[in-house]
Amino acid sequence: MTKVSMTVNGKAVSGEVEGRTLLATFLREGLGLTGTHVGCDTSQCGACVVHVNGQAIKSCTAFAADLDGAKVTTIEGMANPDGSLGTVQQAFQDHHGLQCGFCTPGMVMSAAALLAENPKPTEAEVRHHLEGNICRCTGYHNIVKAVLAASGQDVGQIAAE
Ligand code: FES
Ligand code: FES
Repeated sequence: MTKVSMTVNGKAVSGEVEGRTLLATFLREGLGLTGTHVGCDTSQCGACVVHVNGQAIKSCTAFAADLDGAKVTTIEGMANPDGSLGTVQQAFQDHHGLQCGFCTPGMVMSAAALLAENPKPTEAEVRHHLEGNICRCTGYHNIVKAVLAASGQDVGQIAAE
């Protein structure tokens, strides 16, 4: 076992992990942050996306032991300090960007990473960026709409589906 220390959602945390412990497992089972979902464990679905040192990564592809000292943000860290939904989360709610919600944490984290790099993406850029995130329910249309709305763009002309 190896001791690993990180800053997760602004809080210093540490734990003992095996060399094979995935970041997703450490977050969910070690820290109880079950908002990060695991849909496949094989880097396909994107449900497990978190930010590590400002970059969106699939947390099922990273070993926790390799991330000593990292700054990690999970979906639990996306709310406002008063506990209300953050901008991207609120846009998903406002524009019906989810149904079952299983993919939503990863979608929100991927979208937030895009908006940090590209504050006013086009619809095509949003769709391209979210290619690594699979949703089985929504058909993606309202997810894309939510991301565009979160960027402050007018989505009034985009028909709801
Ligand atoms: S659980 Fe990580 S990509 Fe599916
Ligand atoms: S809302 Fe169900 S998988 Fe996306």
